Amino acid sequence: MNTNQFQHHRRWRAGRSLAKLAATLMFVFSLIFVWSPSAEPTASGTDGSETPSGVNPAPAPALPSEPAMRTESGEKEKKDTCVQCHLEMGDELAAPVTAMQHDIHAQRGLSCADCHGGDPTEEDMDRAMDPRRGFVGRPTPGDIPRFCGKCHSNAEFMKKYNPRLRVDQEAEYFTSIHGKRLVQGDRKVATCISCHGYHGIRAVSDPQAPVYPTNVARTCGRCHANAGYLQSYAIPHDQLEKWQASVHAEALLKKNDLSAPTCNDCHGNHGAVPPGVTSVANVCGACHTRQAELFRKSPHKPAFDEMGLGECLVCHGNHEIHHPSDEMLGTGDEATCVACHSEGEPAYQAAETMRRMIDEMVQELNQAEALVDRAARAGMEVSRAKFELNDAHDKLINARVVVHTFSANELQKVIEPGLETAKKAHQMGVEALNELQFRRKGLAASLVVIFLAVMGLYLKIRQIERPGA
Ligand code: HEC
Ligand code: HEC
Ligand code: HEC
Ligand code: HEC
Ligand code: HEC
Ligand code: HEC
Ligand code: HEC
Ligand code: HEC
Ligand code: HEC
Repeated sequence: MNTNQFQHHRRWRAGRSLAKLAATLMFVFSLIFVWSPSAEPTASGTDGSETPSGVNPAPAPALPSEPAMRTESGEKEKKDTCVQCHLEMGDELAAPVTAMQHDIHAQRGLSCADCHGGDPTEEDMDRAMDPRRGFVGRPTPGDIPRFCGKCHSNAEFMKKYNPRLRVDQEAEYFTSIHGKRLVQGDRKVATCISCHGYHGIRAVSDPQAPVYPTNVARTCGRCHANAGYLQSYAIPHDQLEKWQASVHAEALLKKNDLSAPTCNDCHGNHGAVPPGVTSVANVCGACHTRQAELFRKSPHKPAFDEMGLGECLVCHGNHEIHHPSDEMLGTGDEATCVACHSEGEPAYQAAETMRRMIDEMVQELNQAEALVDRAARAGMEVSRAKFELNDAHDKLINARVVVHTFSANELQKVIEPGLETAKKAHQMGVEALNELQFRRKGLAASLVVIFLAVMGLYLKIRQIERPGA
């Protein structure tokens, strides 16, 4: 929005006053042209708004009877006194008109009265904004979900614009902590406009939308990273900071990997949890399916369930997740296992064994790599060995996934072939270096032979040239 306003201003400054007038008139007419008025608006966003019960209410509040955009091509445009007068009023009363330029609703032909009610054909202010004609001025926070939901919860209405768009946002919202607290009278929780804005609501696929993946964390952080705002609540306010330091933020913001999770991927857009997830504590498995599968078959699953622990959180955390390292496994200082297992337990033993296997594999792979590299630098053909090395690498990566069986036996099954592959590469490296050795010796021998031959030739020539020979 800011950039657009900025551009707008620049254009204005550049123009002459005549151009200014022309631009204003064109702007007003284009707005009137694009926005057709709603039919008999009696919509009220105030009734029943405090209770979530009125989701998909039977007597639907007045809605534009037809997608307004259709009138664009068809019937002659009707006037929109809301836009006209508010633009004339200037300042903050005109601000919504300017702000609406990039609003998805305006783009779909919806105008002021479609949200606020009132009569957009009346020139008179009191009649245009008459509560008896459904006018709702500024909705209170408690009214907002119903205010937006009068259209967004109405499948029949929304279908005319976009049949694929979900119509459960309002219903879902009331299952979230935000929605539940709103019903209880908390006015500081997020409502629809805290996350989407108003007068300038963008499609969720618009990179400038506050709910676009790369912007979501900042949108939530406006409240959740604001210690003062959350003072009266018992929850921490460090989620944004921690998430920004995580491997997920790195993938999303630095590598532009839109599949990496930000706040709403784990907490849901509107509901308490994302679709298909039963508890936020177990949300990780929705993306990291292999680790989750192995974990769920491991002895930890029933044990963690009993202790009320999330599947992955004890070892990886939730907001500040880092790249895991082998140090997390085993019985060292940084190992996760020693938090619960102590010496003498079979699990402690298993942790130690598993770490030893991974270490052995890493060491073997490193040595093989060093050897093959040396041969490659000396100009030997090592593509086969490199191929084996890559294969061994993949097997190590797989072994780190299989750690999530928390079984030394299971790990052994993938470490063994991995070690074999690494050893094969190692052997190829050795052979390449031997070959190099052999070739060098051969080269030296042939150099000696050539030297001797040249010497012999030289002596022979001298003998021939000597006078009287
Ligand atoms: C003839 C001028 C005029 C017309 C027509 C008009 N408005 Fe207004 N509107 C105003 C003025 C002036 C105010 C501020 C004073 C007030 O709140 O009564 C205002 C205030 C508002 C507010 C804020 C109310 C609040 O509670 O803060 C909204 C929302 C609004 N108008 C929407 C509309 C809509 C929707 C229409 C068309 C159906 C419309 N207006 C038509 C002049 C107009
Ligand atoms: C998508 C629905 C929607 C549309 C379309 C819409 N508004 Fe609003 N408007 C709102 C909401 C929601 C608020 C309350 C914001 C808040 O509580 O802070 C609001 C608040 C206002 C206010 C109060 C002052 C302010 O800016 O917060 C005015 C004035 C207003 N609208 C005028 C208009 C005018 C004029 C139009 C048409 C150009 C319009 N609105 C179109 C949803 C809408
Ligand atoms: C806590 C923040 C938040 C609140 C509150 C919120 N939304 Fe959303 N909304 C989002 C996010 C995030 C998305 C999804 C963006 C994406 O798909 O990448 C979204 C998506 C949407 C979409 C696009 C379709 C869809 O469901 O994906 C609509 C429409 C929508 N919201 C309407 C609403 C309405 C109406 C309300 C109030 C009842 C509301 N939202 C409340 C954050 C919020
Ligand atoms: C008069 C009916 C109506 C009202 C009231 C309304 N919307 Fe919409 N909204 C629509 C329509 C129609 C679309 C366009 C859907 C499409 O074509 O994709 C839309 C689109 C959206 C989108 C973009 C969805 C996408 O496809 O990315 C968001 C977000 C949204 N509305 C949020 C809100 C919020 C927040 C409010 C309340 C302040 C609100 N709407 C009030 C009718 C309405
Ligand atoms: C307008 C401010 C605001 C915005 C924006 C906001 N929240 Fe909240 N949120 C709150 C408040 C206030 C609470 C209530 C805290 C409580 O009651 O414990 C809350 C509660 C929560 C809770 C429940 C915490 C708990 O366990 O009690 C979660 C999870 C949450 N918000 C996630 C989000 C996410 C994700 C977003 C962005 C998509 C977001 N919020 C945007 C204000 C906001
Ligand atoms: C990778 C998934 C994930 C991401 C991304 C994520 N969260 Fe969380 N969040 C969780 C889990 C898991 C919990 C703990 C839930 C439990 O223990 O039941 C949690 C807890 C919370 C809580 C409750 C208070 C607390 O700190 O324990 C709030 C509030 C919250 N998250 C907000 C956010 C916000 C804001 C963002 C974005 C900056 C975010 N979360 C990103 C998974 C995530
Ligand atoms: C929406 C999908 C999604 C969710 C949900 C999710 N992740 Fe991730 N995770 C990713 C993506 C994408 C990456 C980045 C992959 C990469 O760059 O290596 C990643 C990376 C990771 C990494 C680093 C892997 C590495 O090799 O460095 C760990 C550890 C991780 N996630 C754990 C978790 C945990 C624990 C949770 C739950 C609290 C979780 N993830 C939730 C998608 C997700
Ligand atoms: C949050 C606590 C906790 C953490 C952390 C933890 N475990 Fe466990 N583990 C348990 C519990 C509880 C059981 C089931 C009871 C038992 O056998 O001790 C268990 C069982 C096991 C078992 C099966 C033992 C048997 O007797 O069959 C193995 C093996 C194991 N864990 C290995 C590990 C390894 C390896 C790590 C580190 C990567 C680890 N655990 C981290 C709590 C934990
Ligand atoms: C008991 C501790 C523990 C639990 C529980 C745990 N992990 Fe891990 N995780 C580890 C350890 C240890 C490593 C590092 C293995 C290595 O590098 O040797 C790791 C590595 C990872 C990695 C990076 C390596 C890989 O596997 O590709 C990801 C991603 C991951 N875990 C995801 C998860 C997910 C998702 C869950 C829940 C389903 C989970 N972890 C549960 C201990 C745990």
